[in-house]
Amino acid sequence: MDFKKINNNIYWIGVNDRETYLFENLWPLPQGVAYNSYAIIDKKIAIIDTVKGSYESLYFDKLKSLLNGKKPDYLVINHMEPDHSGSIKRLIDIYPEITIVGNQKTVEFLKGFYGDFKNIHVVKEGDVLELGDCELEFYLTPMVHWPETMMSYEKKSKTLFSGDAFGGFGTLDGGIFDDELNIDFYEYETLRYYSNIVGKYAQMVVAAVSRLSKLDIKTICATHGPIYRTNPAKIVQDYIKWSNYQTEKGVVIVYGSMYGNTKMMAEAISKGLKDSGIKDIIIHDVSKTHLSYIIADIWKYKGVILGSCAYNQKIFPPMEQLLSFYENAKPKNHVLGIFGSYSWSGGAVSRLKEFSQKIGWEVVEPVIEVRHSPREVDIDECIKLGIEVGKRI
Ligand code: FEO
Repeated sequence: MDFKKINNNIYWIGVNDRETYLFENLWPLPQGVAYNSYAIIDKKIAIIDTVKGSYESLYFDKLKSLLNGKKPDYLVINHMEPDHSGSIKRLIDIYPEITIVGNQKTVEFLKGFYGDFKNIHVVKEGDVLELGDCELEFYLTPMVHWPETMMSYEKKSKTLFSGDAFGGFGTLDGGIFDDELNIDFYEYETLRYYSNIVGKYAQMVVAAVSRLSKLDIKTICATHGPIYRTNPAKIVQDYIKWSNYQTEKGVVIVYGSMYGNTKMMAEAISKGLKDSGIKDIIIHDVSKTHLSYIIADIWKYKGVILGSCAYNQKIFPPMEQLLSFYENAKPKNHVLGIFGSYSWSGGAVSRLKEFSQKIGWEVVEPVIEVRHSPREVDIDECIKLGIEVGKRI
């Protein structure tokens, strides 16, 4: 892919990463990810963010092709995570006179990652950088996703460069705009990106989106995922929903099972949910489905039912990973069902109860713990749990 024109002055110069297996070495990328960088060509030339270092060769080919011998005046750094800052050092090697634009925190991160640079222009909330007809206004949005993150708003074209906010997994295949792509795919991948990476900072996202609401935004240019030019309000509304923990009617059952006994309980619970009229029921085997997808589904639905076998007097290790993530992210507005089994010692259900205390989700009775295999009476209790959770959502 070459560079692409977004509007009169603004160009996309991003790259598609189809090679990386895990984003942040954590989150699966079955459909890859795009690192979006942008250039504003006016009397002055500004670049907004760069791309991951392993793609700098392709990136600089695009940039040089776009600039056609001209030199950029500014590099605006909205976010310092290396998937966007990884080509900064090389950019400065090629264009040593370029001025770096960032906030005070950006400078601290820049020095820490890449060393000292001579031309730095520090901006504060509301500062404006004039490029000619285009003007960039800066909004500090800490913790969306790192402390130094900010957004840049180009006033003439009403384009918001939003950093990670509104971004999602998935390469940009063919088109780059929301009206050129299958937006249903990106909606899920944006929820997955949000819940996996940004969701812990939901309150900061709410604060940022609320401050941006005064802006007339025609186009959203995030650092990942599609460019929203046809319906930017849709992704903003999704972000408001996710950040305010507005969940949908549905239930995610996650179970950890070694020999099928806890799994049998999960199946019975799903029958109870069905009997209570719930249609959106997702069952995940925590050993098989990557946490990334489980986290996204739980973010979406109000009901969460967790079940685990015991393992060495504790909870099944893959389930512990999920609990640990949620104790850290602490999303709200879920109801919780708990079940589990053990053979010779407990450890799973007691850990799930401890989790419910830490996270503060309402626990729906009955809490079920079975020794060895579930009997008919236990299966009946599981069906009852499904019915009771179904009533609460
Ligand atoms: Fe896409 Fe926080 O980096």
